[in-house]
Amino acid sequence: MRQWLVLGLLAIASGLIHWLCSGGAQTMAATTSATKLDASIRRLRTGDLVIRVVDSQQQPVAGATVTLEQTAHDFDFGTALSTQMFRPNVAAHEQAQYLQIAKQWFNASVHEDALKWYSTEPEQGQVSYADADRILAWSEANGLKMRGHTLFWAVEKWNQPWVRALSPQELRQAVERRTTEICHRYRGKISEYDVLNELLHGDFYQQRLGEGIVDQIFQWCRDADPTARLYVNDYDVLNGKLLDAYVHQIRSLLDRGVPVGGIGVQAHVREPMTAAQIQHCLDTLAQFRLPIKITELGVVAATEAEQARILKDLYTVAFAHPAVTGILMWGFWAGANWEPAAAIFKHNFEPTLAARTYQDLVFNQWWTKVNGKTNSSGVVAAQAFFGRYQVTVRAGNHSTIRTVSLTPQSPMPQVVTITLPF
Ligand code: G3I
Repeated sequence: MRQWLVLGLLAIASGLIHWLCSGGAQTMAATTSATKLDASIRRLRTGDLVIRVVDSQQQPVAGATVTLEQTAHDFDFGTALSTQMFRPNVAAHEQAQYLQIAKQWFNASVHEDALKWYSTEPEQGQVSYADADRILAWSEANGLKMRGHTLFWAVEKWNQPWVRALSPQELRQAVERRTTEICHRYRGKISEYDVLNELLHGDFYQQRLGEGIVDQIFQWCRDADPTARLYVNDYDVLNGKLLDAYVHQIRSLLDRGVPVGGIGVQAHVREPMTAAQIQHCLDTLAQFRLPIKITELGVVAATEAEQARILKDLYTVAFAHPAVTGILMWGFWAGANWEPAAAIFKHNFEPTLAARTYQDLVFNQWWTKVNGKTNSSGVVAAQAFFGRYQVTVRAGNHSTIRTVSLTPQSPMPQVVTITLPF
């Protein structure tokens, strides 16, 4: 009976305390609850976190000060990382600023070019993963979860001359070797791959090896690393031009039993785009009940304000969509960007309005910071964004700090009990 009483009190406390002290949420509630997108974000991306403070006799400690500070998002807010910025010959001051932004503004990463076949094996037999490994090691050391781009590129011009010159048999052998080599090499380090990039825009491998090579490449990936999530990845999808074709292609692959585990939507935006368009695209692709990632976000617009508006719509609609598990920018700095106009930091590293918009969304509106005092049950509770937290509890001259993770898989409410030594 006592257990139920405590849980009942916790539930009441959770509602009451949340209203009192989840300042970030209240701010967001006051300014954005009018839209269903923000209601969806709160429903999908937050959970009930209850901090319960007890003494050494397991009795509740009322009036303790609890500070809940988010230190990372659970959701992937990532960026592509430029090969040149990790090379020894890069300007040291630019590299320092670039890496500082990468680790402070993002929690996920992808090789922009370093893992492509033309990068790892420019000449037949001359294989080097040095660039790819260097970028992966930096990502791991700085808490950025890395995705793999791309095992193969279906568009002929992005395949090296020696690959294009291979006989069908030699090409099949080379493709199997690369697939197995990479999936073995990065097993447990890279959790997902764009397996055959831009299949809507090229059929280089099918032309030479038959339609079945697509199924075979996915199978070789699956055999080499059953833990990896295998993505298709394409463009002209968000703007609707090839959305139906993408649906048809994914349906065909899945019907053939190809182990497609995720859908990549590149999002290189160069024309005005509305939130409704983005919503329609994601709703349409959600029919497959597979994770969707915005894999290569870049917005080019007539003005900084328009770029910021489209970026805000993209991030808000995607973050509010239950099928979306991550959003990666295709680079962030104009000095290392295939499309400098899309970068959110100018050549002098000055942030654009789009950068400020991203920062406000990801590190303010969608970010939890709570200061409260425990009630008579020793509880402070908050509706908190999924992610990692540093919890600091102060009572009298005692202070204790704990790291806590709140994830969508956590049982709700997630109760964290902190015992003070008195
Ligand atoms: O590494 C060589 C360097 O040694 C050489 O000195 C230099 C001069 O030619 O070229 C360097 O290679 C360049 C490579 O990027 C690495 O920086 C290639 O020329 C250049 O064509 C290549 O461009 C990349 C492009 O894909 C083609 O692979 C862009 O950086 C990259 O942002 C872009 O990314 C693609 C995605 O992979 C797929 N979706 C579309 C997206 C934009 O095109």
